[in-house]
Amino acid sequence: MKNLVITIDGPAGAGKTTVSKALADRLQYKYIDTGALYRGVAFEAKVKGISVDDEHRLEALCNDLELRFVRKNKGVCLYSGEIDISDDIRTPEMSMMASAVSAHPVVRKALLGIQRKMGAEKAAVFEGRDMGTVVFPQADVKFFLTADLKVRASRRHKELEEKAPQKLAEVEADMQRRDNNDSSRKAAPLKPADDAILIDSTEYSVESVIEQMMKYIYPNPDKPEKLKVTAS
Ligand code: DC
Repeated sequence: MKNLVITIDGPAGAGKTTVSKALADRLQYKYIDTGALYRGVAFEAKVKGISVDDEHRLEALCNDLELRFVRKNKGVCLYSGEIDISDDIRTPEMSMMASAVSAHPVVRKALLGIQRKMGAEKAAVFEGRDMGTVVFPQADVKFFLTADLKVRASRRHKELEEKAPQKLAEVEADMQRRDNNDSSRKAAPLKPADDAILIDSTEYSVESVIEQMMKYIYPNPDKPEKLKVTAS
């Protein structure tokens, strides 16, 4: 299989993580969750008592930060230095804090180099908000995955049930607030790249979304399929 860089951007809860992991497995590619890096910055800011508005201290924090992904049996884990922070970063508080720190250009700049380095060997699926627009504008295939807010909130509500239960209405309100933050910020806002393929997963299963994606990754020119995607 060709070594490609595939990007999957989109709002929270659109199914990016599930789809990106499954797609990477299917292609035997690396899966990189760039949101985890922003969550890692947010977590360390909290530990060190740094406000999400303190650009100066956030910049210093990013310069010292050692974030890395480690592949384990249970999946890919995020380490900060020698500590596994994979579970700590998955709370509603960290979601909001990650969104807040991600609006600072100094934070984005610090993470840009790390992400590009991870993509240097190609054969990777990158999940995030600005993968196709800023980090990998030359990516081979770009997807923008969306779904209705209510469906996204209900999926996230289920995910949080075990770890950090939250009322459905709260999950929905947080999600809307985070989407607004992420799409309205000046630095690398959440939006589809001009050449991204838009897929609305509201009514599709994970398998169906992956099948649609595979047809774009390996199109069969002899048998063009008519795909039900919202735009191209
Ligand atoms: O994908 P996620 O929910 O784990 O991301 C958490 C936050 O990180 C998200 O609200 C915005 C930010 N983020 C970003 O700005 N750019 C990315 N490429 C990935 C995430």
